[in-house]
Amino acid sequence: MLIAIDGPAGAGKSTVARAVADALGFTYLDSGAMYRCVALGELRGAEDPLAAQIDLGGGRVTLDGEDVTEAIRTPEVSERASQVAARPEVRGHLVALQRAMVRDGDYVAEGRDIGTVVAPDAELKVFLTASPEERARRRAAQLGVEPEQVLREQAERDTRDATRAHSPLQPASDALRVDTTGLGIDEVVARIARLVQAVR
Ligand code: CDP
Repeated sequence: MLIAIDGPAGAGKSTVARAVADALGFTYLDSGAMYRCVALGELRGAEDPLAAQIDLGGGRVTLDGEDVTEAIRTPEVSERASQVAARPEVRGHLVALQRAMVRDGDYVAEGRDIGTVVAPDAELKVFLTASPEERARRRAAQLGVEPEQVLREQAERDTRDATRAHSPLQPASDALRVDTTGLGIDEVVARIARLVQAVR
């Protein structure tokens, strides 16, 4: 079974998807981490960033055997990830890897295009949203920086993700929208768990 959780930055996807996967005993797939790995490779001047081995097992992210779990979370990598994610050859490569990963077993996969491109047949598709201000507040608290700065960078990234020609961020027509503004994480997880029960 596959549960797709898509949505913009700061909507709570990672936390929610991880918690839902834990609650159900499913495997969690963070597709954004893969775009971040390609971005990190490029920033480091790798000759062919797409040739690098990305491993998401055990709650850590490794790139050619190096643990990059923290290194891929910097604002610089976030910015570059959203740029590389607009390139068709990057998307084609990573989408193929993601499809192979979720082919067998039970997954909660999180990203921008899981329900639309990677797994249009997912049994449940959730589109998580929250107001831009709330999303920026959450991300700023995570990074320990000012919300105003995050809000500006986030708006740029939102626009790029939503307007790119290739797989723009948009909800699948059969996705269920969950607005997390003002909701605690437990409430969101419980809501999605109920949606899962309904399709199981
Ligand atoms: O955590 P946050 O939502 O900020 O980012 P992420 O999920 O780690 O994804 C980083 C970047 O990769 C995003 O800005 C998207 O441009 C891109 N991405 C994508 O295009 N498709 C996905 N399935 C996942 C991420």
